[in-house]
Amino acid sequence: MLLTVSHPLRDGRVAASSLLAAYRGHRPATAPVWFMRQAGRSLPEYRALRVGTDMLEACLTPDLASEITLQPVRRHGVDAAIFFSDIVIPVRAAGVDVRIVPGRGPVLAEPVRTAADVAALPALDPAALDPVREAVAATVAELGSTPLIGFAGAPYTLASYLVEGGPSKEQLRTRALMHADPDTWARLLSWCAEITGAFLAAQIAAGASAGQLFDSWAGSLSLADYTAHVAPHSERAIAPAKALGVPIVHFGVGTAELLPAMHAIGADVSGVDWRLPLDEASRRLGGTVPLQGNIDPALLAAPWAVLEAHVRDVVERGRAAPAHVVNLGHGVPPDTNPTVLTRLVELIHSL
Ligand code: CP3
Repeated sequence: MLLTVSHPLRDGRVAASSLLAAYRGHRPATAPVWFMRQAGRSLPEYRALRVGTDMLEACLTPDLASEITLQPVRRHGVDAAIFFSDIVIPVRAAGVDVRIVPGRGPVLAEPVRTAADVAALPALDPAALDPVREAVAATVAELGSTPLIGFAGAPYTLASYLVEGGPSKEQLRTRALMHADPDTWARLLSWCAEITGAFLAAQIAAGASAGQLFDSWAGSLSLADYTAHVAPHSERAIAPAKALGVPIVHFGVGTAELLPAMHAIGADVSGVDWRLPLDEASRRLGGTVPLQGNIDPALLAAPWAVLEAHVRDVVERGRAAPAHVVNLGHGVPPDTNPTVLTRLVELIHSL
């Protein structure tokens, strides 16, 4: 499959993007910056729009999803938009009963724990992703020269919600299933790879210029388990998007020990959380991989001078890598003062 001629990557709209240059391994004149979870609860205009609308319903309402995606770009002047959606949208689109419980996260009506549960998982009808395609198309029509990043949850993180039935700190049932019944595990991760890969590729085909795979909970895995039981499925999840020729970022939380393995699935850029300094991350990756990260989200609440010194250090350490996209080490906390984010963008662009 090829991108259509009207895709922003083919019609030249995003040709001067600093984000895409850095994702391709170059060092543009100004450092690109965007924030994970830049769309959402830190913005009063988001909270106003969301009144009375359920989270997943908002994601599947094209006008709303598009407007929420654009809000932080207008307000902060970031170098990319990230599509407003959720990692469980493809699960919902396949017909599985999942909701987002405010303050908690994705919750399944019926957890998926046995061979029979996995066998009963429904196939994803491609048409069920039409609202996603529509929202992406409406968004890139407004974004002009600013690229849109598409995203998806990695099979492990997605499977952890399915098996646990909701958010879980250590994913004990999930990791037990991996070893107790490896065949069922492989079928479950294959299903997750299939639907999440379709979700990511749908965003790219509809106009997103890069993709990010979030394996938010992979940090609870040993390197051996990650390599044997997870990495091949993550590789399959990004394959359809990669086939469209866009750069892929792979991000996890607490995944310092997994960095080379997470890069080896075919990712172009490694997202790094706040725990590992970028110069050390680059060393672990052989000095050849563009990095994204890794401002500690906690410091968004610290006095400006403290935050500024930290951000300067992050940018300095990022020079060890061939290229660097500045971001947080995880998402924007909901109680963040949005004026701090705007000021951060100005600072980073001035360095
Ligand atoms: O700006 C962006 O980054 C784009 C939007 C985005 C959302 N979710 C919107 C959202 C992205 C990229 C995600 C991905 C996502 N969703 C991940 C991976 C990223 C990460 O944070 O590690 C995960 C693990 C989820 C699952 C999920 N969805 C959680 C844990 C929550 C929080 C629940 C809560 O209320 O604390 C959600 C809900 C969610 N996804 C919100 C937003 C803006 C909050 C919903 C609301 O406003 O009520």
